[in-house]
Amino acid sequence: MNSRLPQMTYAAVIAGVFAFPALAQAQITEYQQDQWLHTAAITSHVGNVTGDGSGAEERYRRYCQVCHGKMGDGNGESAQWFEPPLYPKPRDFTLGVFKCRSTPTGTLPTDEDLYNTIGRGMDRSNMPPWNTFSEQTRADLVAWIKHYSPRWQTEKAGPPIEIPAEPEVTAERVKAGQEVYSRVQCWKCHGVTGNANGPSASTLTDDPGHPILPYNFHEGRPKCGNSDTELYKIFMTGLDGTPMPSFSDNIKPDEAWDLVFFLRTLQSYPSKAKEIAEQLHLKPLNPDGSLPK
Ligand code: HEC
Ligand code: HEC
Repeated sequence: MNSRLPQMTYAAVIAGVFAFPALAQAQITEYQQDQWLHTAAITSHVGNVTGDGSGAEERYRRYCQVCHGKMGDGNGESAQWFEPPLYPKPRDFTLGVFKCRSTPTGTLPTDEDLYNTIGRGMDRSNMPPWNTFSEQTRADLVAWIKHYSPRWQTEKAGPPIEIPAEPEVTAERVKAGQEVYSRVQCWKCHGVTGNANGPSASTLTDDPGHPILPYNFHEGRPKCGNSDTELYKIFMTGLDGTPMPSFSDNIKPDEAWDLVFFLRTLQSYPSKAKEIAEQLHLKPLNPDGSLPK
């Protein structure tokens, strides 16, 4: 009996892995999505604007469908051209999994998170910014996106994480941030100097199975925004659907600010933290990720 157990478990796991995506795909029909469009879950609230999903259909068909697809599954006409290095592929909205959130890993984003992403676009990807659309149009598009996935029918957005007020950046905090970067091993992917060349960098894939590179702190801006608070949210909520995890279990809120300040020293453009690091002659981490002497 005992000797057969591992084999059976293995078989069950394999069956589960292959059966689940097939089931999830088969479950969603256009008819169902039409029904969801008319449920209470499919409105959005951003500030004092209320978004109505039906109001966005025309714009979605005209501006978004070419990449995100008729049924929101990320298989628009243009998606086929997103070959390496033009990854990631357009988001599959039927999964209800999003990168840019103020909410804990594994939970749905808030309406405002989606609204901000639509206006900002996603740097280093083919997701353009839609900041010429009115607030109403963007709020309508948020509601429309929500009608593609069954998750919005049964779940609410997660509770936004609590972020303490931002402290003053000091030399102690920049150094403490470097210690956090070393301790929780950001360098394994992002590299000791932030050039996206850590030992794990070339092995990473996103949930759909496509290769994905870590963010290179010397190039461009983070795709979920580049304010101090946005940087804080990126590593405390994680970019769901990618290997970029949430560190909320390993980094305390106050330490998270130290880390934000240290990350600024890795970016190529000027900041107060970078000035401080230069005054300190702050050395990069050793190649094995340990702190410099
Ligand atoms: C040229 C192709 C293209 C067009 C057009 C486009 N997108 Fe995207 N979109 C993408 C890609 C690619 C991603 C994934 C980027 C990434 O993961 O880095 C994405 C991601 C997203 C996301 C996911 C954000 C997150 O946090 O994960 C949302 C929401 C979104 N797009 C909304 C829209 C809306 C609304 C429109 C139309 C107004 C639109 N997109 C038009 C390519 C496009
Ligand atoms: C297992 C590998 C891995 C580890 C460990 C990791 N990251 Fe990332 N990180 C990634 C990947 C992959 C991306 C790119 C995601 C994308 O492009 O969608 C990323 C993206 C980012 C971004 C920018 C968002 C963007 O893509 O524009 C920031 C900022 C970031 N990581 C900070 C950190 C910090 C700080 C730590 C440590 C606390 C850390 N990461 C640990 C893999 C990792």
